[in-house]
Amino acid sequence: GIDPNFDDNREHVGEENGLDVWGPVDPPEKLGIHGAHVAVDYDICIADGACLENCPVDVFDWVDTPDHPESETKVEPTREDQCIDCMLCVDICPVDAIDVDAS
Ligand code: SF4
Ligand code: F3S
Repeated sequence: GIDPNFDDNREHVGEENGLDVWGPVDPPEKLGIHGAHVAVDYDICIADGACLENCPVDVFDWVDTPDHPESETKVEPTREDQCIDCMLCVDICPVDAIDVDAS
């Protein structure tokens, strides 16, 4: 699953869609972690979609990630600032691709 200490263990390599991106990034195969308060490990996400469909405040959007080995779409936590820390997405993701920093 996603490393919950990614912000210490990974390099901040830039921003995409207004969100922090944490490396290593080497597209299309390696896309890193997207977000800060709500973070999605793009290299683990298999586009299950349960997070996006069930988030009570609609934090996520689909983005295309053609030629990524796990899936050709990912969820971007575009509205992470709206998150109410319910932890549903963290609990429901079948591959533990999401970390929410509720502290
Ligand atoms: Fe949405 Fe809850 Fe996940 Fe926050 S913790 S992104 S509110 S499902
Ligand atoms: Fe991806 Fe997990 Fe959501 S696989 S689409 S982060 S439920």
